[in-house]
Amino acid sequence: GGLITLDPGFKNTGSCESAITFLNGEEGILRYRGYAIEDLAEKASFLEVAYLLIFGELPTQQQLDKLYADIKKESHVDEEMKKILDGFPKSAHPMGVLSSLTSALIAFNPSAVNVDSEEDMYNAIIKLLAKFPVLVAWTLRKRNGQPLDYGDSSLTYVDNILKMMFKKPSENYEVNKVVSEALNKLLILHADHEQNCSTSTVRIVGSSHAGLFASISAGISALWGPLHGGANQAVIEMLEGIKQDGGDTKKYMQKAKDKEDPFRLMGFGHRVYKNFDPRAKIIKKSADDVLNSLGIEDPVLDIAKGLEKEALEDSYFVDRKLYPNVDFYSGIIYRALGIPTEMFTVMFALGRLPGWIAQWREMRLRKEPIGRPRQVYIGENHREFKDINNR
Ligand code: CMC
Repeated sequence: GGLITLDPGFKNTGSCESAITFLNGEEGILRYRGYAIEDLAEKASFLEVAYLLIFGELPTQQQLDKLYADIKKESHVDEEMKKILDGFPKSAHPMGVLSSLTSALIAFNPSAVNVDSEEDMYNAIIKLLAKFPVLVAWTLRKRNGQPLDYGDSSLTYVDNILKMMFKKPSENYEVNKVVSEALNKLLILHADHEQNCSTSTVRIVGSSHAGLFASISAGISALWGPLHGGANQAVIEMLEGIKQDGGDTKKYMQKAKDKEDPFRLMGFGHRVYKNFDPRAKIIKKSADDVLNSLGIEDPVLDIAKGLEKEALEDSYFVDRKLYPNVDFYSGIIYRALGIPTEMFTVMFALGRLPGWIAQWREMRLRKEPIGRPRQVYIGENHREFKDINNR
């Protein structure tokens, strides 16, 4: 074969052409389909953003109504799925449960597997947008020992998610506006981020023409890792640890800089952003607003702000251009909304779903070839086989 270029971690290799998300890491710019993330987070609903990412344009009211009506028709999940959920031990991590349930959906929706036309594609997408929030809510409710409910079709997409997650039996659940707006914003901020680890996974799995649900299930597994979406859980655990250790942020800054110590400042650094992560800016402000509006005081927020301040003045972080990323403050908001730490990355997955779908759809519509990287072989040359008694 010809000369293979080696680029571990694909630090400088483009895997595709894409018209979905624009990211400029030097200047801290993020746009979905050309629209600034700041505008979308402030002015749009999550479902509008989902439509924008997947279909390329902001929807008219009529298009949005049609999308949501189609979703509502598909929002049931096969009863047998409850048995699968029941089979998990209570201690199961919600990300593992969610990826398994997403994969299990294939068995109950076989028509969504082979997508040959745009119409097939649309139907598979609607099914997933409808059923995925139910799986998320069930995962939480199972963990909390609560009965598994369905949604309330009179609510918006995001408010329905809140109700499915948090409604206690025999309670007349009222959606809190502050909570609803905060969740809407967080989901939008997480909705896409071009060719990150989980999205690349979705595209590469989908490139073999495995179905949408299988591709998304693989994406969930990729997102789980602490270097990726799992960072939001790891951040809160780190902040809690620092708090319990007397709040000595300097000590942990030192650990993060020590190359002998595996500890990293979770929620800091990014492969592409060498400047402020624009999402982190919005989330930091939102964390303040949400905690104030809900009257919550969380000492962990002060520790986070203290760490950020120290890092921005420290030559180790300055030289390496390490800034807070999307995961640094998001967990503080999730926690204020009553979401358990182990569910944080599940919330990230819920937000990322439209992006994964949009990227999968783009990959299929562009008829991209199967993803199949090459390698540089560094193993043994030819060796003579030895009988087991002679090894
Ligand atoms: N704490 C301490 N040092 C760090 C950190 C950190 N959080 N992040 C990077 N560095 C150092 C790293 O040790 C290396 O130093 P040196 O050049 O002396 O060897 C340098 O900065 C470059 O880092 P890298 O690991 O080569 O960069 P990468 O692009 O491979 O990794 C990253 C990017 C996000 C995985 C990494 O910054 C990291 O592990 N951060 C903590 C985990 C985290 O917050 N992840 C969430 C990412 S954003 C949202 C998402 O994807 O979910």
